[in-house]
Amino acid sequence: MDLTGKTAIITGAAGGIGRATARLMAQQGAAVVVADLNEAVLETAAMIRAAGGQAEALVTDCATDEGVAAIVARAVERFGGIDILHANAGITGGLLPRLDTSSADFMEVLRINLLGPWIAIRTALPHMQTGGAIICTASVAGLRAGAGPIPYSASKAGVVNLVQSTAMALTGRGIRVNGVAPGLIDTPMTAPLFDDARARGREDRIGQLNPLRRGGEAQEIAEAVVWLASDAARYVNGQVLAVDGGLSSQLPFTPKWSI
Ligand SMILES: NC(=O)c1ccc[n+]([C@@H]2O[C@H](COP(=O)([O-])OP(=O)(O)OC[C@H]3O[C@@H](n4cnc5c(N)ncnc54)[C@H](O)[C@@H]3O)[C@@H](O)[C@H]2O)c1
Repeated sequence: MDLTGKTAIITGAAGGIGRATARLMAQQGAAVVVADLNEAVLETAAMIRAAGGQAEALVTDCATDEGVAAIVARAVERFGGIDILHANAGITGGLLPRLDTSSADFMEVLRINLLGPWIAIRTALPHMQTGGAIICTASVAGLRAGAGPIPYSASKAGVVNLVQSTAMALTGRGIRVNGVAPGLIDTPMTAPLFDDARARGREDRIGQLNPLRRGGEAQEIAEAVVWLASDAARYVNGQVLAVDGGLSSQLPFTPKWSI
């Protein structure tokens, strides 16, 4: 998983999966450019620099042409190019399934979760060479129903196909495009759920739907992303890897083997 000499962009890196990935990529030797709307992304870069790594941070919208152009320009000016793009910024648009979501709210989820990764890919690609790697953060909610609200799940299903379609469109370029589909991970996004369970002493109930019977940690997603970014995954392309404790591998009809 050595990333020495590589430059990585990570969007949505103020905390959670993006911060964990940025820190791990830097530990593996990459120079990183981290971006987020949340100013806490500056702390992500400061942590990496304090640990001896190279990091630049931008507080910007990662789902606008201008915001992404600024991120890409920073990577190119400061580090000379882009080897890895982790398009990770996302929102849930609310955790509960609703049938009355307005068009504006639906489109905002699509803008950030699906258009954002596309803008990042389109803008970064001219600066990427053979050997480059793109990783998008999808979700198990994008694989099938039952793991998230409707706009969120539809946006993440879009990310799954964005990965497949861009991998194919890059035929012959030697740039791989993959995704990760996290299950239920303890991050700022899911904090209301984890906090509520902890407050009620029901933390042991989290993750009970997957065979490992626990929620995941951001570090566990970061390790999958870094693997996909590295040459260790050099023949893995156009795939979305579920990192979910086995949640998406099962249907709810068989009796539980452990009972
Ligand atoms: N936590 C989970 O259980 C889980 C499961 C599946 C997928 N995911 C996905 O993982 C990714 C990271 O989420 P996380 O769980 O680490 O939560 P998180 O909320 O810590 O991370 C998402 C980050 O994206 C940033 N962001 C949102 N909109 C932005 C925009 N327009 N421009 C720039 N930054 C923006 C947020 O400020 C936040 O820092 C998201 O795409 C999320 O959908 C999370």
